[in-house]
Amino acid sequence: MENKQFFIKTFGCQMNERDSEIMAQSLSRYGYVEGMEVQEADLVILNTCSIRAKAEQKVMSLLGYLRKTKEKRPHMKICVAGCVAQQEGKTIIDRMPHVDLIVGTQNIYNIGELLLDAEAGKSRVVTQMEDSYVIPLFLPELPSSKADTKEDKTTFQFSRFVTIMQGCNNYCTYCVVPYTRGREVSRKVQDIVDEVTMLVQSGVKEITLLGQNVNSYGKTNEVEFGAPSFTFSDLLRRVAAVNGLKRLRFTTSNPKDLTDDLMSCFRDVKNLCPQFHLPVQAGSDTILKAMNRKYTVQQYLEQVKVLREYCPSISLSTDIIVGFPGETDADFEGTMDLLETVRYHGSFSFKYSDRPGTRSAGFENKVDEAVKSERLARFQARQDEISLERNAEFVGLEKEILVEQVSSDSVKGRTDTNHIVHVNEPLKVNVGDLLTVKINFAGQHSLKAELI
Ligand code: SAH
Ligand code: SF4
Ligand code: F3S
Repeated sequence: MENKQFFIKTFGCQMNERDSEIMAQSLSRYGYVEGMEVQEADLVILNTCSIRAKAEQKVMSLLGYLRKTKEKRPHMKICVAGCVAQQEGKTIIDRMPHVDLIVGTQNIYNIGELLLDAEAGKSRVVTQMEDSYVIPLFLPELPSSKADTKEDKTTFQFSRFVTIMQGCNNYCTYCVVPYTRGREVSRKVQDIVDEVTMLVQSGVKEITLLGQNVNSYGKTNEVEFGAPSFTFSDLLRRVAAVNGLKRLRFTTSNPKDLTDDLMSCFRDVKNLCPQFHLPVQAGSDTILKAMNRKYTVQQYLEQVKVLREYCPSISLSTDIIVGFPGETDADFEGTMDLLETVRYHGSFSFKYSDRPGTRSAGFENKVDEAVKSERLARFQARQDEISLERNAEFVGLEKEILVEQVSSDSVKGRTDTNHIVHVNEPLKVNVGDLLTVKINFAGQHSLKAELI
């Protein structure tokens, strides 16, 4: 079979990144290899995100650009997958005849077949979602061409994502995810352990478990025969025990489901990395309530305290939304205070954005765009200062790094706390090696170190 090339562009979260890998693996069964250039591709896939209006706009403008590319290369197929496809698929196909296929978030596993079907005149919009959706066992048995072509090929060989659940049942009032990803469904424990074991046996050192709210793993469907209340912490311990796994991470967590048992894993599970992304969203109880987050600032701060007791070296990060409808100056000061109290190692902060179908889109008291921008800038400037101060705490420490890149005169790696470290020395090491170094400089976004 002659090889055809596909080009895939991924927007949004790590779950989407993993979905892109799955599509790549699936397509390799249909004679496709991954290429680096849109201009040479026989198939272009946009794996899209609709979390904020901006993310969606990017997709729409890229589709506009691809229309012109396709005029020159009419055989090129265009496929839209991911969250925008799920929500807006029908509209896209109606308005953009140059799009060949829309693949919803639960339909990616047989994208190869769906392409053939669309070519044969069957449906071009495949976005069915089922409440009782079972995530197929998708063992990474196929060679992924991504490993041969992408710049991040080296990281891909030893650090991988494993999806443990789909969807979300939380309905935070601002969020599209429950609509784009459907009901929350957890994968079977054995499928997850099999996938991790296979990856580790093929040389992978670091695994990140993925879900929109991993803390509620196992709550909506039975995940292990004979154990009706198997929790996320049970899963963590099970995965951590896979022989040869050096580093385990997970993302992302809603504080409302964070148990003491899970927090204690940061003390007890040795290969669980001391790094925790715990999105708080806002530092005002009024706003948290309006967001339907189901925890208070006080409860959140208590969790931070316990986490730091259990694991003093833990590196904490968060997500923040500024300018949620009704957010007053005083509410925003609450968010700034929270930042001062927790002193996150890093954070992702965003201006609130109305999303179709969400409850908050219909809320009154929308905050002025200019006020949102001002608040965001203030938050980010202070976070930058704190990140630098936090990074400075590493100077003088010995840290183990997982090597990601090796060049003739330098090495780049990552600490267990997920900080990037540069060692500007020629070293005889390979990517995927663990190396102990001494941190001697802290920058805003990375650290520098020397060999001991
Ligand atoms: N499941 C995760 C969040 C996933 S979405 C959790 O519950 O924390 C990633 C982040 O995007 C969110 O944490 C939130 O900060 C941001 N976000 C989601 N919807 C948004 C919206 N409508 N406007 C602005 N930011 C939003
Ligand atoms: Fe969205 Fe809330 Fe679900 Fe996170 S927990 S994905 S913010 S609805
Ligand atoms: Fe975006 Fe969908 Fe992820 S909306 S953040 S790609 S779940």
